[in-house]
Amino acid sequence: MKESSQILLSAKNLSHSFDYPLFHDIDIAIHKRESIAVLGISGSGKSTLLHILATLLKPQKGTVSFEHKDMYTLKDKQLLEIRRNQIGIIFQSHYLFKGFSVLENLKISSLISNKKVDTSLIEKLKITPTLKQNVAELSGGQQQRVSIARVMIKKPKLIFADEPTGNLDRETANDIMDVMLEYTKENNGGLFIVTHDEKIAAKCNTIYRLKDKRLVPVIL
Ligand SMILES: Nc1ncnc2c1ncn2[C@@H]1O[C@H](COP(=O)(O)OP(=O)(O)O)[C@@H](O)[C@H]1O
Ligand SMILES: [Mg+2]
Repeated sequence: MKESSQILLSAKNLSHSFDYPLFHDIDIAIHKRESIAVLGISGSGKSTLLHILATLLKPQKGTVSFEHKDMYTLKDKQLLEIRRNQIGIIFQSHYLFKGFSVLENLKISSLISNKKVDTSLIEKLKITPTLKQNVAELSGGQQQRVSIARVMIKKPKLIFADEPTGNLDRETANDIMDVMLEYTKENNGGLFIVTHDEKIAAKCNTIYRLKDKRLVPVIL
């Protein structure tokens, strides 16, 4: 199943330190239709690893290749093009445009990516009744659904999500994971999530723990 022709993103020998070394010589690949979860205690470097894989942070050592292009040797404009059109990033604190309605927030994403607002996606994420509401009026769970819809509207090949279900009740967390997993399978995409939640991680094909500066495969 994991053939090299199926690789979307491949990272080799990644090392990064801030005040202390976070990890060294990490290799990881994301294949088409693969979902990967990374567990690990707070401060172990999970978000840093996600940022490196998602075009946001150049690693101090190592390479990240997206569709066989070494990302951090590309020109800024080319890297931006990948970030804008091929990669979707979902953060725990969603950066929705407060003061605008749900539909307006989704339309901004559709305009930037030149893709239609996908109504079936909105249905699946159960936000149809909220479309006319101001995002600031929504619950945390509803806001997270909107932020996921906003990222998915641009139909990215890879979705990165940093603790996407961190503040959500179990049912909403499960629903959101299921929508992301289904998207990944149906679109030959890849999903990479960082989470504290082993039940959420267990829904993914591949699970690692970032521990002692290494990525250790985990079976849950
Ligand atoms: N931009 C940064 N500058 C300096 N230190 C950082 C930066 N980003 C993260 N760190 C530090 O690196 C460590 C790992 O952070 P992070 O990757 O966010 O871990 P995790 O997501 O596993 O909690 C923390 O000690 C954090 O303070
Ligand atoms: Mg983090």
